[in-house]
Amino acid sequence: MNDFSIKESAKSIFIANVKGGVGKSTLSIMLARALACNLPPQNITVIDTDLQRTTTEFLSASNPEINIEFVPITPAFENTNIALLQQFIKQNSFKNGHIVIIDTPAGTSQRLWNLVAESYCVLIPTSLSNADLAPTESFIKSMDKVKARYNQVYPHLVVCPNKIPFGQKDYSTMAKRLSNHDVVIGPAIRDLASVRHFYNGNYKMNQSENATEDFGRFGDFVNKFVVKGELDKIYHDSKNNLNVVPFSKNN
Ligand SMILES: Nc1ncnc2c1ncn2[C@@H]1O[C@H](COP(=O)(O)OP(=O)(O)OP(=O)(O)O)[C@@H](O)[C@H]1O
Ligand SMILES: [Mg+2]
Repeated sequence: MNDFSIKESAKSIFIANVKGGVGKSTLSIMLARALACNLPPQNITVIDTDLQRTTTEFLSASNPEINIEFVPITPAFENTNIALLQQFIKQNSFKNGHIVIIDTPAGTSQRLWNLVAESYCVLIPTSLSNADLAPTESFIKSMDKVKARYNQVYPHLVVCPNKIPFGQKDYSTMAKRLSNHDVVIGPAIRDLASVRHFYNGNYKMNQSENATEDFGRFGDFVNKFVVKGELDKIYHDSKNNLNVVPFSKNN
């Protein structure tokens, strides 16, 4: 085994859901910030594909040391920019230890989903409300079908419970609903006042223990299971190739 094989390979992580307003951009920003606590910021690239530019605007203001690329995927330029996005991901795939986080717009774009299906991992934020869970479940079903059709374990699908009311301990409804799908449930992120403060320009967050705790825990989870490849081991060891692991059981 040479040095190169010991190092972590580059990984692309899409943040996606057909449903709007579930926290895709917030998770993209906060995940990049959390990972930058443990990884050199030059190893992290965030690609903002949403014309709204939320991620670009706020992450460049809060963490200018993290690389950000703005590649809007709009119906008018869909083909050109998806090809560009594909090129960016490919370029970064040659850099060992590099993490590419891609924030995506709400809605459906078959070409974009085809690209998402080629990635390493998809983080799917959703609240516990049926208004979010129903479209989230159908999104997961369509991603699952693609994986099953090609008999592939990638991308790992990770559901990220977001905007969870304080004190909520019971995730059984969600876990039950997703139990027939090939997904992992990541650690929950609560409905945080500090997220609203962040968008009002309070980028520090060090005095806010709740946000530091929730996004810190989420970053640790991604670091262990995605960046360091623990999910691969779970798949590898699993006899039936199914990785339904409710990680947030004890949150
Ligand atoms: N954990 C959280 N706590 C409190 N507010 C949150 C949380 N996550 C997201 N929000 C708020 O929810 C709203 C939508 O979040 P965000 O823009 O990240 O969603 P999105 O999925 O990217 O939306 P879009 O589909 O429009 O791109 C924002 O006002 C954001 O401040
Ligand atoms: Mg967004």
